[in-house]
Amino acid sequence: MRPRHLVLVGPMGSGKTTIGRRAATLTGRRWVDTDEVVAERAAMTIPEIFAREGEAGFRRRESDVVAEVLDGPPAVVSLGGGAVTSPAVRARLAAADVVVVWLDADLEVLWHRVGGDPGRPLLAGDGRARLEALRREREAWYADVAHARVDTSSLEPDEATRVVLEAAGVPTPGPVGEAP
Ligand code: S3P
Repeated sequence: MRPRHLVLVGPMGSGKTTIGRRAATLTGRRWVDTDEVVAERAAMTIPEIFAREGEAGFRRRESDVVAEVLDGPPAVVSLGGGAVTSPAVRARLAAADVVVVWLDADLEVLWHRVGGDPGRPLLAGDGRARLEALRREREAWYADVAHARVDTSSLEPDEATRVVLEAAGVPTPGPVGEAP
């Protein structure tokens, strides 16, 4: 079965949102960013959800959204960096209708992209150390669920998107007149 969904996982700042949006445009699929859906449903920002319901509350909401989105029409799905910590999410990503690409980058690059962003509550305090620890803690889970890994450290968004689609085996329409 050709996978219906392309799912992007990886640490904060690895490019899941930027590349997911572009990949969806290129392949004519809908694009879903689970963080966006969770916040919209809750009518709260992500930091507000963490403050009121804790990380556990956020993970429950996130896990429900992932299940629902993957039961829907074909999509490119950008997951939050910690979605893979939920066993239910990992189990769903193992299904045959999903191809998962793990986006990663050097710690310095990740930190440069997300450092100082107040929208990422798990980076409160010593954000750089938190980012490094979370990335290390979750590495095995990313490796476990992913079919391919793409290092985006030195790739521009358009090039990264092409590399990701190729790694995922997702066909993109070529220029007009080009044989498929
Ligand atoms: C989180 C990553 C965030 C968001 C939330 C928690 C994490 O998503 O889901 O702040 O646990 O790594 P991004 O990876 O899109 O920043």
